[in-house]
Amino acid sequence: AIHLRDYAPPAWLIDTVDLHVDLREEAAIIRSTLAVRRNPASGPASGNAAAALELDGQELELLAVRVDNRLLGPDDYTLTPERLTLAGLADHATVEITTRTRPQDNTALEGLYKSSGNYCTQCEAEGFRKITYFLDRPDVMARYTTTIEAERARYPVLLSNGNLTASGDSATEAGRHWARWEDPWPKPCYLFALVAGTLVHIEDRFTTRSGRDVALRIYVEPGNEAKCGHAMESLKKSMKWDEDVYGLEYDLDIFNIVAVSDFNMGAMENKSLNVFNTKYILAQPDTATDTDFLGIETVVAHEYFHNWTGNRVTCRDWFQLSLKEGLTVFRDQEFSADMNSAPVKRIQDVQRLRQVQFNEDAGPTAHSVRPESYIEISNFYTPTVYEKGAEVLRMYRTLLGHAGYRKGIDLYFARHDGQAVTTDDFLAAMVEANGQKPTDPLWAQFQRWYSQAGTPVVSGEGRHDAAAGTYTLTLRQTVPATPGQPDKLPQVIPVALGLVGPDGKDVPLTLAGEGHAGDTTRIIPLTEAEQSYTFTGVPQAPVPSLLRGFSAPVRLDFKQDDAALTFLMAHDSDAFNRWEAGQTLATRLILADVDARAKGAETAVPRAYIDATAQTLARAGEDRAFAALALALPTEGYLGQQRATVDVDGIHAARLALRRTLARELNGAFRKAYDGNRTDGAFTITPDAMGRRALKNAALAYLMALDDAPARALCLAQYQGATTMTDAIAALALIADSAMDERAACLADFADRWKHEALVMDKWFAVQALSDRPDTLDRVRGLMDHPSFSIRNPNKVYALVGSFAANPSKFHAADGSGYAFLADTVLTLDKLNPQVASRMVKPLARWRPYDSGRQEHAKAALERIVGTTGLSRDVHEIASKSLVG
Ligand code: ARG
Ligand code: ZN
Repeated sequence: AIHLRDYAPPAWLIDTVDLHVDLREEAAIIRSTLAVRRNPASGPASGNAAAALELDGQELELLAVRVDNRLLGPDDYTLTPERLTLAGLADHATVEITTRTRPQDNTALEGLYKSSGNYCTQCEAEGFRKITYFLDRPDVMARYTTTIEAERARYPVLLSNGNLTASGDSATEAGRHWARWEDPWPKPCYLFALVAGTLVHIEDRFTTRSGRDVALRIYVEPGNEAKCGHAMESLKKSMKWDEDVYGLEYDLDIFNIVAVSDFNMGAMENKSLNVFNTKYILAQPDTATDTDFLGIETVVAHEYFHNWTGNRVTCRDWFQLSLKEGLTVFRDQEFSADMNSAPVKRIQDVQRLRQVQFNEDAGPTAHSVRPESYIEISNFYTPTVYEKGAEVLRMYRTLLGHAGYRKGIDLYFARHDGQAVTTDDFLAAMVEANGQKPTDPLWAQFQRWYSQAGTPVVSGEGRHDAAAGTYTLTLRQTVPATPGQPDKLPQVIPVALGLVGPDGKDVPLTLAGEGHAGDTTRIIPLTEAEQSYTFTGVPQAPVPSLLRGFSAPVRLDFKQDDAALTFLMAHDSDAFNRWEAGQTLATRLILADVDARAKGAETAVPRAYIDATAQTLARAGEDRAFAALALALPTEGYLGQQRATVDVDGIHAARLALRRTLARELNGAFRKAYDGNRTDGAFTITPDAMGRRALKNAALAYLMALDDAPARALCLAQYQGATTMTDAIAALALIADSAMDERAACLADFADRWKHEALVMDKWFAVQALSDRPDTLDRVRGLMDHPSFSIRNPNKVYALVGSFAANPSKFHAADGSGYAFLADTVLTLDKLNPQVASRMVKPLARWRPYDSGRQEHAKAALERIVGTTGLSRDVHEIASKSLVG
């Protein structure tokens, strides 16, 4: 394992890199010329005067090494499978290394590889070492010149970072051409990129506020050029937003995006040459859902925003990953909130955090936002580093205010532009820009958000004193133990609080001792294990609204009765908490029914809850997207997190029973909501149009919970008449869950219609893998042999296998068949693509909260993985940590 505490500055620096990449059908030949020098900052005290130059390299064939133009013999260097060591260099040297790789055999999709016949690269985190020997660490920043040479007919487009400075035909070989790119900005090698292939592009322009005219291009495979418009619009909006909100401008005359169909993650922010998964670029109304359109907007923005938060200021080492990822996710979340409905975006972000990050934080792979150690860094591109990291940024802004936050950001760039830094540097800039010190108690405590893993639990209660006209709130916090961190200290938790009066209006908040009434929402920084706050001027008992806007990534366990929650559902001025109150109520109802079912009984749904849902439907026109979220019941995953032991079948049955009761009791209202929100006519992706589709499809899902003839007819008609993918796939997913006769025909029809659209076929795989039908696993096994499936394509694996692992009742089948299937798939995948294989192990990790039968099956699956010889570091790390539990 590699530990944060062992960090030392590099003994050598690299000032310039001159790459020559010769792409041949048999292999790629890479010649790299490095200007290296001893790092003055790691001086003689550290023994550096004699330190050898130790370059990282993996799966490379070394052809030649020259130092200052002298060809070295095998005795002049040391070569191991992971390193090339050159000793006895002068303080400055020119090192020229020639290597050979076979991109066409690279199924791991890391380093230089081929996707649909085109060459592309993925270097973050440690892929550059699969292209050439190098100091593959982010604190070594160099200026790159890249010359690509290839056959013109097959690879007409040759791209790399920076500006195109020269190009031409090969002087010696007919049919070959070359292009030279120069990137003026020093960068770590993880931001290097190269693309060569048959690609078409769309082009647009953006003028920065200081007048720089930037050419924007999106490259795709021929035939896809009509699907890039939304991504281009999203890019221009991102560039404008970053100027308006952060004062940050683009810094080159060209910005390129390339979309490839084989990509391990979502996208990559390589300097001026972003490489994207096609999933986050290609969209047309008939092929992409509203969720896809929103995802594209967010991911395009995310990668663009990295140009400052990641590229201009980068990470010192990979423990600091959240420095760029947490910050950039926070930026893309706020951008999307500004472009669409802010409350809806916040609810969706919190749903995701709870569903995935809370789970991680409670399991065997829990780690802090700034991890202390890792075996394989690829395993740390996690919801904790990304999404919890983003919550940490949000808390800075909550504590410092918008203006204070912006001051901190400005100081961060003033101090660190062009540097590779740490989250401590970021914290120092934030607080010092606001006249405070990192050693102040508040900020020393804030630092624990980076160093302590686990989701804090905030509990408490309130007391109203009618005679004194005061309201006293008592809050407590605990941070649960996580692997390697048995004892935790309190963290500063910014609690956004409001008190809602009996008239439904917020009470101005005055803390005892204050002279004047304050705002109706106040931020209380909870810093102790237990704290009390007394508010004055509260003559009538209020209903407290805590953690407004989800002001901290914690679990809230606040004593509040059903009547108070129903009241907040109707009256809270904070939209997030209106939604949250409904979710808490539904959670209580379902869990009570789960307990009853365990004893062979069932609970009745209270009239008040049915009426509250009817109210939500009646008021849906005020904000349809919000109403759709409010109508959706908590997921089985979230419900499972609320109990020490997950009752898989009980939760599934109780949740379905509540959906059916609501569908029966409010059938007319759901049908009215459906009919009132049909969006025939021209497609738009405005929040209003998306809201109508979301609400209509939420209503359809309730109606289909009954799986009766009228609902089936409606669903079938929607599937057959759909003009948007949003409507088509919503109907198809319900049909895939249903026992209706037309099920097989609809699925076959969809596949026949879309068999040439890879991204649409991903949806077809996903709806079948998520199906509630009893034979889902058998069908998934069968689909692994479908002509449109490929285990080498990550999107296909995530769509079919990943979706199955997210199917709560089928993956967690009591007989262990789901776990065994996943283990089989992981072992097959690991030989091809360790990163994807490792991501597929994670659903097996959290076996602790299940019953002993399931525990044994999950452990057996993990043991079978761990016991396999030749396992990748990626899979071994996750599987072995998971077994320890
Ligand atoms: N930096 C990228 C992003 O979040 C993630 C790429 C990481 N890729 C990987 N294979 N680890 O935008
Ligand atoms: Zn990122």
